[in-house]
Amino acid sequence: MPKRLEPEPLPRRDFLSLAGLTLTGLAGIGATMGGIRLLKPYVLPERSNRFTIGLPGEFPVGTERILPERNVVVRSTPAGVAVVSLVCTHLGCIVASTDEGFDCPCHGSRFTGEGDVVKGPAPRPLRWLEVWLAPDGKLVVDGGSEVSPGTFFGV
Ligand code: FES
Repeated sequence: MPKRLEPEPLPRRDFLSLAGLTLTGLAGIGATMGGIRLLKPYVLPERSNRFTIGLPGEFPVGTERILPERNVVVRSTPAGVAVVSLVCTHLGCIVASTDEGFDCPCHGSRFTGEGDVVKGPAPRPLRWLEVWLAPDGKLVVDGGSEVSPGTFFGV
């Protein structure tokens, strides 16, 4: 005769039913959480490559100025302003200005003052970047937008 305080053993069929219900409940919770997660977009917006370099008056005609914080050189001519990237087209090192143009310290690529490749391994010229005048009168550069070499923007 079983004692009154001892729990009755759970029959095998009841145990399997309870286990099945538990697993079904956990699967339902997981599916619900996954569905809720789908409501939130997981595509992160790309960081803008646009940056302001200053007023046109800061770049007098006939001058060339390197902006090390932006890795560009700003060239101002009577034809307008041009911005050339100083990022080497081989593996992205920052080229240094020389008397002849630009040299890459990493693997020895050389570029003319216009950014054309003189010596590899850089596969292509330095990038000329799009620049325009913002409504506030400052020059804005789009580091992600390349223009044809030799393009100057009238300001
Ligand atoms: S990164 Fe400039 S030559 Fe390799």
